[in-house]
Amino acid sequence: MARYHLGWEDEHGNPSSATGKRLRPALCLLACEAVGGEWRSGLPAAAAVELVHAFSLVHDDIQDRDEERHHRPAVWARWGEAQAINAGDALLVLAHLALAGLKDDAGLYARCAAYLDEATLEMVEGQVLDLEYEGRPQVTVDEWAEMVGKKTGALFGCALGLGAVTGGADEDRAHEFVRLGRALGTAFQARDDMLAIWGDGSRTGKPVASDLIRRKKSLPVVLAWSMVNEAGKAQLESARSEGSVDRTLMLFDGLGVEEECQREAERMQDRALEMLDRLELGADSGAELGAAVRFLLERDY
Ligand code: IPE
Ligand code: IPE
Ligand code: MG
Ligand code: MG
Repeated sequence: MARYHLGWEDEHGNPSSATGKRLRPALCLLACEAVGGEWRSGLPAAAAVELVHAFSLVHDDIQDRDEERHHRPAVWARWGEAQAINAGDALLVLAHLALAGLKDDAGLYARCAAYLDEATLEMVEGQVLDLEYEGRPQVTVDEWAEMVGKKTGALFGCALGLGAVTGGADEDRAHEFVRLGRALGTAFQARDDMLAIWGDGSRTGKPVASDLIRRKKSLPVVLAWSMVNEAGKAQLESARSEGSVDRTLMLFDGLGVEEECQREAERMQDRALEMLDRLELGADSGAELGAAVRFLLERDY
């Protein structure tokens, strides 16, 4: 199940290449190099972050009732919920075993384990909020940002922070990378929330509009609510209580919600790019991380 989720095998155990984007480990290794480290020294941490991410997705699909991931049935849709919980648990343990590749330097290992555990805990808190929000009539944009900072920002922050730590950065410098990662993660989730509604399922490999059906407080939903008066709120609520995705999308079109989301996502991207500038990296590392930031917002998958 773990090999299937990671995209190494198909459901019959044959070789496959249906992997994710592996953004977090790429960012981790880029950060390692950016502080003057040798990228190979960041590999245990990069693998650990990707495995925590994999664990989170296996459980997330159960929690979100989403049956498709990476263009294939999600683990729970293929093996059932109970086994998918086991697969997620195993991936989380594998993350720690991967990080143990740093054990030769006990001090470094302890520092990295603390980063990873704190970020994982915060990510789970974000998932708790995400599910709790399903039951609320609405949330504010700030509440969306709090939840997303935890569920997605924490692990992006950890990826960049661990890269910096394994590359030899001191605590202050590593925290600058953590802050950049958090800003990146939030911009990334803004884009993800848009793709979940207006994206092409044949590109994302995930179900379209399931956020609306699940009453998720994704960025488009939260922004739409902040843009309308009482009559508009009543219209949005009636479309939602009827479960009419088409009518909700028509209301979003009339309000220009997609454009507003795009502007908001661009503001988040700009904030991340400013933070990157303030890190004053060498030309190569700055350009590579800058390209990664731009990809986060321009991607369509
Ligand atoms: C999906 O993350 C979950 C979010 C935090 C939005 P990714 O889009 O990085 O997932 P994969 O690993 O590439 O599938
Ligand atoms: C992803 O949240 C965040 C985590 C898994 C921690 P979503 O539920 O929005 O991500 P997708 O769209 O299913 O990948
Ligand atoms: Mg999900
Ligand atoms: Mg989710």
